[in-house]
Amino acid sequence: MKKTAFDPISVKPPKPIKRLGLHEYVHEGPLEGRLKQIESFEQRSRRYLGCKADLVEFIQRIVREQCPNMRTFADVFAGTGVVGAALNKSNTEVITNDFLQSNYVCLSTFLGVSHDIRKQINEKVSHLNNLADGHQNYVSQHFGGRYFSEANARKIGTVREEIDRIAVDSDEHNMLLCSLIYAVDRVANTVGHYDAFRRRMDSFKPLYLRTPIVEFNVNQGNRVFCEDANSLVRRIECDVLYLDPPYNSRQYSDSYHLLENLTVWNKPPVKGVAQKMDRSHLKSRYCVNGAAGALEDLVTHAHCRHILLSYNNTGSSMDGRSNARITDEEILEILATRGEVRLFVRSHRGYTTGKNISEENAERIFHCRVRKVH
Ligand SMILES: C[S@@+](CC[C@H](N)C(=O)[O-])C[C@H]1O[C@@H](n2cnc3c(N)ncnc32)[C@H](O)[C@@H]1O
Repeated sequence: MKKTAFDPISVKPPKPIKRLGLHEYVHEGPLEGRLKQIESFEQRSRRYLGCKADLVEFIQRIVREQCPNMRTFADVFAGTGVVGAALNKSNTEVITNDFLQSNYVCLSTFLGVSHDIRKQINEKVSHLNNLADGHQNYVSQHFGGRYFSEANARKIGTVREEIDRIAVDSDEHNMLLCSLIYAVDRVANTVGHYDAFRRRMDSFKPLYLRTPIVEFNVNQGNRVFCEDANSLVRRIECDVLYLDPPYNSRQYSDSYHLLENLTVWNKPPVKGVAQKMDRSHLKSRYCVNGAAGALEDLVTHAHCRHILLSYNNTGSSMDGRSNARITDEEILEILATRGEVRLFVRSHRGYTTGKNISEENAERIFHCRVRKVH
């Protein structure tokens, strides 16, 4: 079994022992003692729409059986990156990409950092946890009392500023931002995304950053990108290209605007009840009419031996927002331009090679064995 380079420290977060002012905490013990108490978190412990954490075994099995001798795996709509992580071995190069910077910093953390910087990160996370909530700032002004308690909003803004001040290089910067994103998610007054916040504020537990569990030793040679998948595929070569684009009209930049805003940190104006910034540059072609054209362009320009495509069979809904943007017929037609296509289905009754393409609630993966080199 692969050894985890960064073993989790299974100690509960320190309890505040004394309250100073309104929301300032101090912790007992010398600095060294406090450092040991930092908890860690796993990549998959994030709430993310369309996350394939439960599907990785199914994908691994298809790769093992259908794509022998794989050396390079590319996940160009990576989101949380859990799929690439499952295939991340010392003899496999993993390429991951997502056009949101809030995902890029997490992908860089888990799949990009290849030297052990645990000590520095532990120290800096501990330092960030021990900061006072601070003054009114961009986060508290716009998101306090809505997505976060006032105290947490002030602390998030304070921590965000401090990360820019203390990170000495991009690895540290990405890891600390990743810690903040996962921590923010745990105290957000939402149902898991930021399209809206709950009317009644009931998330008062204090913000607490943990350190990410990173397998530094297997990340050597991996590459992480933050760009449009259609542009990227023109420049990369891989054995297996995994595609998990959005399926419906819900833009990820709408659902995760707050995390993106926090990551980019240009402090743009925000508007509306949901306090969203301008996202016109972050619209995915896979969420609008013409999504099939985007997929066709990507598949045509891919340099790979195998294409695996996850695409949910959501059927038709009343509001239309959840309807799949690309039909099964279009998918089959597009993939068939590059080679033989098979469908793998994992239904609630088990795992089969798909016969019934529209099985209700089934998880489906299209596999194209690429024959035609463009
Ligand atoms: C269905 S989610 C992927 C979930 C991922 N497989 C996981 O397990 O977390 C689709 C992702 O594609 C990203 N995305 C959408 N359009 C994109 C584009 N044109 N280029 C790159 N990424 C894009 C979104 O930000 C989102 O994270």
